[in-house]
Formats: sequence, C-alpha cells, structure tokens
Amino acid sequence: MRVAVIVPAAGSGHRFGAGDKLASDFGGRPVLLRSVEPFTKRDEVDAIIVAGPPDDLESFRDRYGAPLGFLGGTVVEGGRRDRWETVLRALEAVPEGCTHVAIHDGARPLLDDELVDRVFEAGRTRAAVIPGVPLRDTLKKCGAELFEAAERDATVDAILGLDDDGAAGDILGGEDDGESQAPPPGHQVAAREVQETVSRESLYRVQTPQLFEIELLRRAYAQSDLEGATDDAMLVERLGEPVTLVEGDERNLKITTQQDLEIARALGGIRGDGGRPSHKRF
Ligand code: C5P
Repeated sequence: MRVAVIVPAAGSGHRFGAGDKLASDFGGRPVLLRSVEPFTKRDEVDAIIVAGPPDDLESFRDRYGAPLGFLGGTVVEGGRRDRWETVLRALEAVPEGCTHVAIHDGARPLLDDELVDRVFEAGRTRAAVIPGVPLRDTLKKCGAELFEAAERDATVDAILGLDDDGAAGDILGGEDDGESQAPPPGHQVAAREVQETVSRESLYRVQTPQLFEIELLRRAYAQSDLEGATDDAMLVERLGEPVTLVEGDERNLKITTQQDLEIARALGGIRGDGGRPSHKRF
C-alpha cells in the first residue's frame, strides 16, 4: 500500500470567529502542523498534500511552506467554497505509484497513531475505510423557529420595553423602535420547540482520516454532482460502493469554534497561548 495524504486546509473558518484556527498554537506548533505530523513517520506514506485557501495562498505558503516542506509536505491550491472542491483539486497532485489516498482534516490535531493504524490496517482489505464513534446522547429533531424562553418579570419587561403579552421582538431581532435598551445579561434564553426524538441506534459521528483505494476515490470524484458532500465517503456511497467504518477516537475532534480549541487543548494537556498564532510568538 502506497498512500498519498490529502489535508484540506482551505476553509474560511468563519465559525471560529476572530483569528485563524489552523494557525492557533497547539503546544508550540500550529494546529495544522499537528494535524499533519502523525503521517510523517509512516512508511506507507509517499506524499502529503496540503490544500490551502485560494484567495490567500501566498501568505499560507509563507506561513507553512517551509515547515511543511521539512515534514515532506507540499502546498497546493484548495477550493473556495466547499471542502469537496478542495479535495478534487488536491487529487490532481497525487503522485504516480500511489495506490491509496488518505484524507485528513487540517483542523484535527489530536490524531493518534493507533487510529491511523486501525484505518490503514482495514484499508489493506477494504476499498473505503472511515473512523467513527457511536452517538451517546439522545437526539431530538427541533423546529427551525427560535424564540425567547427566559422567565420575565415586570421589572425586566419594563427595561426591555415589552408589551403586556410579552412580545419579544427586540430580543429576537425584531424591529427596533429606537428606544428600548439592550436586555440585561442573563435574561435571554433562545429556544426551539422539540418535534420528535430520533433513534440514535446505529448512528455514528464520522471522523478523518478516511482512506480509499485511489481508483475508487477518483471515480467518486468524477461524478457529475458533488454538491452537498460533507465528507469523502459520502461520494463513494453515491456510487453505491461499500464503505467500512472502524472504531474512531473521541479525542480526535475537529476544531470548528473557539470552544473546540479549548476542549482540544485540555484533552491534549496543552496550555493556551492567549490567542497568539504560534508563527508570531518568537
Ligand atoms: O467546513 P468543515 O469544518 O467541514 O471543514 C473541514 C476541513 O475542510 C477543514 O480542515 C477546512 O479547512 C477544510 N476545508 C477546505 N476547503 C473548503 C472548506 C473546508 O479545505 N472550501
């Protein structure tokens, strides 16, 4: 098995808020490099292709080109909007001779060797392998409408300028009459109506790395409609081909929000850095 690793790292990270999540310090190195490192010491890996943001590729190269080169990685241009566009572009850079492609999110810095072992071992006999963990929480389907559910008292109503039936237009982003003040902290609870409980039986949260025989992955990405794919296995499923799930790792979380970064640092026993990107710390 000769593996090319693709690391999508072209996302805008808008759900992260201020700052660049991939550049955030993760124990002395940026999140992105931590996500790449587990692959650098594996014999099966021939190439590591990191796909950066097309609108900011020069600064991405300035920031990561040298350390990634040191780890044996190369930078290519990713896609502007969707993750699948990024993978589609990166596939063109897979060198000849590779039999498999592993795809791992650039925002998963807590990948451990045992998980890579499991995925790669299964990949010797299965054409598409993904890691996943069972859902443990109870699942509810909720209505799309958001409403205010905080208990109100007359004083708060007066401060908020609400009428007798407690019309909560201001709190919920309704029209501003220009007079009411912002609600005091602690008096807003955005809520939704529960519609039904969804069975969690047989449901898994899926992670990366996902490993594919290269011909199967190329076929999956050659389909005319790639819209809506949030992971790579989904496109293999659209072909009607089987996908095998192996045990994932609860710690292997994807950093999407600031809170995810805090949780990941805690899981990794890593202290925060006050939000300063690691490439600017010296
Ligand atoms: O958007 P999501 O959280 O699913 O992104 C997962 C990974 O895909 C991240 O590492 C992100 O940088 C990457 N991505 C990408 N190109 C995009 C969108 C997301 O490489 N256009």
